[in-house]
Amino acid sequence: MPGRMAGRRALVTGGASGIGLACARRLVAEGAEVVLLDLSSAASAAAATVACDVRDPGAVAAAVTRAAGLLNGPADVLVNSAGVYRIAPLLDLTPGEWDDVVTVNLRGTFLAGRAVAAALIAAGLPGAIVNISSTAGLVADASEPSAHYNASKAGVLALTRQMAAEWAPYGIRANAVCPGVIDTPMLRLMDDPAAGDAYLQAGVPQRRLGSADEVAAVIVFLASDDASYLTGAAVPVDGGMTAI
Ligand SMILES: NC(=O)c1ccc[n+]([C@@H]2O[C@H](COP(=O)([O-])OP(=O)(O)OC[C@H]3O[C@@H](n4cnc5c(N)ncnc54)[C@H](O)[C@@H]3O)[C@@H](O)[C@H]2O)c1
Repeated sequence: MPGRMAGRRALVTGGASGIGLACARRLVAEGAEVVLLDLSSAASAAAATVACDVRDPGAVAAAVTRAAGLLNGPADVLVNSAGVYRIAPLLDLTPGEWDDVVTVNLRGTFLAGRAVAAALIAAGLPGAIVNISSTAGLVADASEPSAHYNASKAGVLALTRQMAAEWAPYGIRANAVCPGVIDTPMLRLMDDPAAGDAYLQAGVPQRRLGSADEVAAVIVFLASDDASYLTGAAVPVDGGMTAI
């Protein structure tokens, strides 16, 4: 929808790749000013990029301030897409591996959300936050053991609900999407194409991978005023995976 996001200032964490990059492209196409936040500030064709590690509170605060300078005002759309995925059976999972994944996926989402909301509240402006959880935050999957990832994504859902509850009085909405099996550089399922295809046939009613743009379409809807009475929700974008 060209123009739907005109006048909006968007910050996309993890915006250099995959779902975050697809969001940035859609936000730009719909009229928003966009700044990306990622580990490296390597030039992106999609938008200006601020280098930041979302695990670091000081770096996140500085990056949100820098983004506000580039956007000529505080970001009123935040997409939290920075994330990492690791596989390890529970009995082999080390505390260090647990912390690595939870710190990026859950703490990073908290830090960016808090910094953006604080700037909006200080300026008396409304906004919308969309956090990227996963179907892994809703259901277990013995074939891809990743308890640390799953716990981080379930945590993102609880965090999203709490953001919605605490920040609704300020006009800030917070929602989450739960992508299923999406064709991005993070995807491990298709490392073994035969096994990947069998998984899709048995586990995904639509029997195919989703695209990053199909997830971005839902994220931008949630960030837009079309979703003005929607907050605290978790929306699966999974080809029906969690319906069966
Ligand atoms: N691809 C899938 O099938 C799938 C499914 C469900 C959920 N997700 C979630 O979607 C989000 C985006 O994943 P994707 O598939 O686009 O992956 P991706 O690997 O393509 O992109 C992730 C981005 O996050 C950035 N990033 C990682 N650690 C960071 C850090 N500490 N600070 C700042 N940036 C950091 C990376 O540099 C990268 O650009 C993630 O939260 C992921 O867990 C993906």
